[in-house]
Amino acid sequence: MSLLQVEKMTHYFGGLRAVHNYDLQIEPGQIRGLIGPNGAGKTTIFNLITGIHQPTEGSVRLGSENLVGLQPHQIASAGLGRTFQNLLLWRHMNVLEHVIMSQYSKMTYGLAGAFFGTTKRKRQEAEAEDKAYGLLELVGISDLAHENVLNLPYGAQRRVEMARALAIEPKILFLDEPTAGMNPEELIQMMEIIRQVHKEFGLAIFLIEHRLKVVMELCEKIQTLVFGEVIAEGTPEEIQNDSRVIDAYLGKEAID
Ligand SMILES: Nc1ncnc2c1ncn2[C@@H]1O[C@H](COP(=O)(O)OP(=O)(O)O)[C@@H](O)[C@H]1O
Ligand SMILES: [Mg+2]
Repeated sequence: MSLLQVEKMTHYFGGLRAVHNYDLQIEPGQIRGLIGPNGAGKTTIFNLITGIHQPTEGSVRLGSENLVGLQPHQIASAGLGRTFQNLLLWRHMNVLEHVIMSQYSKMTYGLAGAFFGTTKRKRQEAEAEDKAYGLLELVGISDLAHENVLNLPYGAQRRVEMARALAIEPKILFLDEPTAGMNPEELIQMMEIIRQVHKEFGLAIFLIEHRLKVVMELCEKIQTLVFGEVIAEGTPEEIQNDSRVIDAYLGKEAID
């Protein structure tokens, strides 16, 4: 059985068909990519699978669990972590608190513990803090743990989002344009972090990217989406040489 299985997923925004008959199967540990022009429906696919929007039709399963109809936090608990194209960070929290907070759903000290400061609560919070530091180290920003997220450069904010998504211990991680707005140096660092995260946790990764270099280098298999439909699916090499992809999207200059 695939780790993630999407079948015939379709979504309308009013009269606009944003996604049509979309199929996807991701195996454990795979890195997969989704490319396509602006407005093709890529973020909508993430939002449908992660419970932000409900599909008009179709099925989504993570392992044996049906995800359609679940709330985003339930889908996260089922093992699906994600980052957002437009960063979702809280202005009043520092970097460390962001990563600690996303672990709260996994803590088990209960209501009494929350009020009376039990030993169990203290131990779990200390563990959560240790884990958060470890994740911040992995994404290369442990020295910024006590900074307010809003004071950080964009590249570092993206890393906070990544550490936060990893804190829920996902089986699969969705990254929506993780290199958006980055300069070439930050881009290379982010690719290295994605490789590192993949190696360390062995999780599956599903990546939306605008920059072809990133998907071509990281992904085993890539889907190309145009007007909400997959027009080609294959290895980086197959995608680069697919005439439908070149006509519809890549153009000549985009492949380098
Ligand atoms: N919440 C929404 N309400 C209405 N239309 C939307 C919404 N989100 C996206 N769309 C439309 O759906 C289409 C696909 O958008 P999106 O998934 O963001 O594309 P991409 O991520 O590939 O750039 C676009 O035409 C966009 O305007
Ligand atoms: Mg998008």
